[in-house]
Amino acid sequence: MSTVALEEVGLSHNGQIEVIPLPHALGAEVRCGDVKAIDDATAAVVHRALLDNLVILIRDQELTDEDQLDFARHFGVLRPGSKPEESPKGMKARTNPYIGINSNIKENGVPIGQFGDKEVVWHTDHSYREIPLSYSVLYGTLAPERGGETGFCNMYLALETLPEATRERIKGLSIKNDAAYNSGGQLRGNQKPPGDIRTSPGPNHPIVCTHPKTGYNALYLGRRPFAYVNGLTLEDSEALLDELWAHATKPEFQWHHKWREGDILMWDNRAVMHHRNAIPPGQDRIAKRCQLDGDPTTCDPAAFAKPPHPRGYLNVQD
Ligand code: SIN
Repeated sequence: MSTVALEEVGLSHNGQIEVIPLPHALGAEVRCGDVKAIDDATAAVVHRALLDNLVILIRDQELTDEDQLDFARHFGVLRPGSKPEESPKGMKARTNPYIGINSNIKENGVPIGQFGDKEVVWHTDHSYREIPLSYSVLYGTLAPERGGETGFCNMYLALETLPEATRERIKGLSIKNDAAYNSGGQLRGNQKPPGDIRTSPGPNHPIVCTHPKTGYNALYLGRRPFAYVNGLTLEDSEALLDELWAHATKPEFQWHHKWREGDILMWDNRAVMHHRNAIPPGQDRIAKRCQLDGDPTTCDPAAFAKPPHPRGYLNVQD
């Protein structure tokens, strides 16, 4: 556990901010008091904890939508959510362009949010755009007793632990990312199912991306369905993607969070992929989500010479 003394950052939250790394391949609980009260110096410590641990959990918050957005603004520029025409058809319209609802609840037969109750497959947010997101902030307001856990896998670690031959092979390669389906498998409102994935539209991102803030390389896979490794035959692309996905989503690189009401989870999309377990019948869940602009994806060849990110080793704690 690391504790940042108040005097170092000029704060007033019970004397301390605690950053408690979780006993998994990634993640830390941050105890910083009520996030409505944090100032820029506290936010800088929280930001550092996020860059160091890839995902942070802050418990026991009571936030309005505006409070959640004010918290997120400490870490960058908010990006609005999908426009109505980009959202799955038949979903209730957003009341705030910056707040999305992840929920399985329906009101009068109309979903109040996205993803329903099925599994949300592993993905990185907005990999289907030229400029993906930096961070996502999810705030739980209704937690199911069972199911709906949000999972993360550590993409620094996934890169570090790849077989050497595969690491060499993917240097300089890029993946074309499909935009037609969301990670709940729902067709986006304005999209057609992709035809030939070698020629269908979609942004290209390097398979190894250099994190713009930490300077470490991480594996960047986006989404598995309808992805294509540029320049390879379809067969070779599928085989390479299958190998990379099977490796990156190994249980030892993951952590799934069981929600409590009032939890905030914030994750770094340049360093993790995430996933949500299915929600069983009879269980309801609401999580409110906002997101921050990212940077163009690039790979700095010099970053291959760096030692791994501090959480790019298995079983690193404390
Ligand atoms: C997502 O935002 O992709 C799903 C995360 C969740 O609702 O747990």
